[in-house]
Amino acid sequence: MPPSPPGYARFKKLLFRLDPEVSHGLAMGALRAAAAVPGLARVLARRARVADPRLAQNLFGRTFANPVGLAAGFDKDAVAVRGWPALGFGFVEVGTVTPWPQAGNPRPRLFRFPEARSLQNAMGFNNRGMDALERRLSRFRRYGAAPLPLGINLGKNKATPPAGALADYEVLVRRLADLGDYLVVNLSSPNTPGLRDLQNEAFLRALLAMATGITSRPILVKLSPDLDPGAAVDLAEVAVTAGAAGIIAANTTTEYGLLPGAKDFGGLSGEVLREKSYGMLQALAARLFGRTVLVSVGGIDSGEEAYRRLRAGASLVQIYTGLVYEGPGLPRRINEELLRSMDRDGVGRIGELIGADL
Ligand code: FNR
Repeated sequence: MPPSPPGYARFKKLLFRLDPEVSHGLAMGALRAAAAVPGLARVLARRARVADPRLAQNLFGRTFANPVGLAAGFDKDAVAVRGWPALGFGFVEVGTVTPWPQAGNPRPRLFRFPEARSLQNAMGFNNRGMDALERRLSRFRRYGAAPLPLGINLGKNKATPPAGALADYEVLVRRLADLGDYLVVNLSSPNTPGLRDLQNEAFLRALLAMATGITSRPILVKLSPDLDPGAAVDLAEVAVTAGAAGIIAANTTTEYGLLPGAKDFGGLSGEVLREKSYGMLQALAARLFGRTVLVSVGGIDSGEEAYRRLRAGASLVQIYTGLVYEGPGLPRRINEELLRSMDRDGVGRIGELIGADL
């Protein structure tokens, strides 16, 4: 495996001595600051980009230069959108955003498990709300588009009762649809009480009818890995039939037995989620490959793992926890490894890879 970018090992040592949320804030601040220096983000992006047309795909009306995206939750308020290309990402998903700003759960609410290369979080959709997100993303309109294909992940406020959930998603779609290349309805965070109960056929049908009636932007549904696999596939099929453009699998898991020492709240991500996320992708692809765009997320931290997901039927992959443990060089490394594996296997273009194992 190629070496980590210079300095990350030392930087990581420092970051890992701090509270995980403080570290996250520092890393975001550094990226934001770098992106604010005129020209620097472009120079860094040129260095990080693996500019090879064999990795490119056209999806949702935009060109994705590579299949590696930033998963939701890392840049909830879209404060570093200009910085992400400098890490070599092919796309970014911001959010989860809720209609009203909310503080999230009390701290501490984010925990590292370095031996297991995993995280446990109970953030609870801490975010500045849709007005702030709209203001930030509106800036990109002046330049025609965000620097990378951009997804916006939507969620309900904690204080909204179940009967008001649809209205929360409606106000978000109305306000934000035109500012992203795709929207995600997030029904799968374990940290908003009752949210996962919305993963049912009736709500999904109502939600997609509402959203597709308002916007022609692609709507993706993000599912929980804790659904029974059969139920997950049935639900995904309902979503696709009702107009969803894609399925994102998966969010964090509440199967705490996967991680010795885990607390009994929040959701687990990273290595402990890997096989569960992969299994869910396989089940989804068996029924839905070719009928929708599958996005795989959960425990991806190498080119080898990304390659496995693409071969299993994912068009795109996303990373969160891998970035924490592997550092900012990970997206670039994954793309380089993908190209090497494609060379080894005589694969001409990424399109030939996607679903090759089916
Ligand atoms: C997340 N994730 C997440 N997902 C989402 O849809 N909305 C969100 O706001 C968040 N917030 C969030 C915060 C933290 C601290 C973590 C670790 C994760 C879930 C994330 O997008 C992803 O689905 C899982 O973490 C699995 O991928 P990884 O982390 O194993 O690569």
